[in-house]
Amino acid sequence: MIILKSPQEILKMKKSGQIVATILSELKMQVKPGVSTLFLDQFADKLIQKFKVKSAFKGYKGYKHSLCTSINDEVVHGIPSAKRILKEGDIIGMDFGVVCDGYYGDAAISVGVGNISEKAQKLLKVTEESLWKGIEYIKAKNYLSDVSCSIQNYVESHGYSVVREFVGHGIGQSLHEDPPVPNYGEPHQGVILEEGMVLAIEPMVNMGKSGVRILEDGWTVVTLDHSLSAHFEHTIAITEKGAEILTKRGEENA
Ligand code: MF3
Ligand code: CO
Repeated sequence: MIILKSPQEILKMKKSGQIVATILSELKMQVKPGVSTLFLDQFADKLIQKFKVKSAFKGYKGYKHSLCTSINDEVVHGIPSAKRILKEGDIIGMDFGVVCDGYYGDAAISVGVGNISEKAQKLLKVTEESLWKGIEYIKAKNYLSDVSCSIQNYVESHGYSVVREFVGHGIGQSLHEDPPVPNYGEPHQGVILEEGMVLAIEPMVNMGKSGVRILEDGWTVVTLDHSLSAHFEHTIAITEKGAEILTKRGEENA
C-alpha cells in the first residue's frame, strides 16, 4: 500500500532530507587517504547528535552503524570498520539516513579517494547522471516504470549494468515503504505516480556484470565479477510543482 503524504508531512520530510544532505556534504569533505570507514561513521554520529535527530539505520534489522560505507567492488551496505582504511584511488559509497519528527530521509553519494582513474571517474559520473535521468520522469500521472527504464537505458548505453537484487523504495514514517523502485524495467507498466508520493531512488551501477552476492558478514553486497560499483540516492517528493529533491545538497545546482 502506497502512503501519500500531505504538504505538511512533506515539509517535515524536507527537514529530515536537508539534514541528511548537510551531513553527507560534511562526510564527503572527510574522505581522504588514511581515514577509516569507522571514523566516517563516528563523524556522522557526532553530526546526528548536533542536529538532535536519530539515525535511520542504527538498529534497523540489527545494523549497528549510522552509515553504510561501500568501497570499490562493494555495492551497498558495507559495514564501517577501524580496519578499513581508505587509500588513494579507491571509490567509496556512503549511504546515510535520519529520522526527524517521525519522518525519514535517505540518500547516498559515491566519491573518489584522492586521485582516481578516469575509468572510475566515469563510473561515478554516469551513476549520478542516471539518478537524474530517472528523476526527469518523476511527476504526477507518469508511470513509475518509466523512471526505472530511463535509469537502466542510460546506464546500459555506457556499457555498465544495474543491480537487480536491491531497489529504491517509498519512504515516510518508515524507511522502506511501497512502492519498490527498481532501476530496470519495461516502460509504461504498473504504478502511476501521484502528488504526495515520496520515493527514494537509488541506482546501483556495476562497471561489469550485474551479478552480486552478500558477504559472510550478512550485509556487505559485492559484485560477483569484482568490478567497481557506484551508488547514488535521493529522497524525492511529488508535489503540485513536480519533483522536489528533499535531499539536495548545497553543491548540487541542477
Ligand atoms: N539506505 C539503505 C536503503 O536505501 C538501507 C540501509 S540498510 C541499513 O534502503 F541497515 F543500513 F539500514
Ligand atoms: Co534507500
